[in-house]
Amino acid sequence: MELGSKVPKVDLSVQVGKLTLRTPIILASGCCGYGFELLRVNDFPWEDVGALVLKSITVKPRVGKPPPRVAEVTAGMLNAIGVQNEGIGAFMERIAPRLAELPCAVIASIIGTTKEEYAVLANALNGCSGIAAIEVNISSPNIERGGIEFGVDPKAAGEVTELVRRNWNGDVWVKLSPNAHDIALIAQSCSDAGADILVLTNTVPAMGLDVRSFPPKPLLGAVVGGLSGPAIKPIVLRKVYEAVRRLRQIGAKAQVVASGGIWRAQDIVEYLSVGATAVQVGTLLLHDVHAPRKLRTGLEEYALWVHKLMNDEKWLRISSYIGCALGACEP
Ligand SMILES: Cc1cc2nc3c(=O)[nH]c(=O)nc-3n(C[C@H](O)[C@H](O)[C@H](O)COP(=O)(O)O)c2cc1C
Repeated sequence: MELGSKVPKVDLSVQVGKLTLRTPIILASGCCGYGFELLRVNDFPWEDVGALVLKSITVKPRVGKPPPRVAEVTAGMLNAIGVQNEGIGAFMERIAPRLAELPCAVIASIIGTTKEEYAVLANALNGCSGIAAIEVNISSPNIERGGIEFGVDPKAAGEVTELVRRNWNGDVWVKLSPNAHDIALIAQSCSDAGADILVLTNTVPAMGLDVRSFPPKPLLGAVVGGLSGPAIKPIVLRKVYEAVRRLRQIGAKAQVVASGGIWRAQDIVEYLSVGATAVQVGTLLLHDVHAPRKLRTGLEEYALWVHKLMNDEKWLRISSYIGCALGACEP
């Protein structure tokens, strides 16, 4: 860079449903508590965060799974938390009134074991002005269908989406399960049922053993759990690609937000390139709470590089990258 020459400004803002986010970086559910925990972190880079998703809420309080609840593995992290939370009643009383203190958009996450529970939760949240959207976590056993996950059943996933749509006035985000046999079909079903945003995906079923004891012992108290972190990124990238292609083929207006294994700015670029509008960051935040800063500066550097390479102002806008690799990905 020549002395005195100005570095162009990169516009990181993206439009996700009705929300304009200052960056495409969203903090993932379960990895940032109720947001207030981050207010206590020295120099937390709020200006680099577009929004945050609260820990999933259930109708009744849940004590969660036995410890240990998290464990590190080679390329990621195992967890089996069991959706520990105090239930919607305590949430509305104690947490909801304080959400306006948070310096970014807040999305509530709900999870149920019957369709009716999702409706009850969505309806209750209408009374909460600090919430910009609801994220519907469908990685949950449907007890009315023998425990089959809502997220693997296109009909049940659509029905839950429709119920939340009817009971909630704002945008409906539906967070899909990676276990779906055909993720594009689930995305289509939720989109047809009125989802504004599809979030792909939750953690991938996994387990680990500690061989320092003999016989080896499970790493998690619940024995099995979910894998997150860099190990799952290529898996989720493919699912995002498949869902985006289907949504574009059918002309759906639902957008996709990616959640899985983001560790560096390049990962965000990959997700945007196959059509995600924004991304969620989970495990990385547990590893380095200031990571949004590093991700933002990495995105800016990438955009400056592409801008120079292509000699076109449009590449200074991060929203221009959404879907930019889809042509090259045509089979
Ligand atoms: C400790 C932990 C707790 C989580 N709790 C929730 C949760 O309550 N609701 C939810 O939808 N996802 C939950 N997740 C999944 C994350 O939101 C995210 O989708 C997943 O970890 C993949 O992203 P990552 O690889 O960036 O962590 C949790 C993940 C972790 C690691």
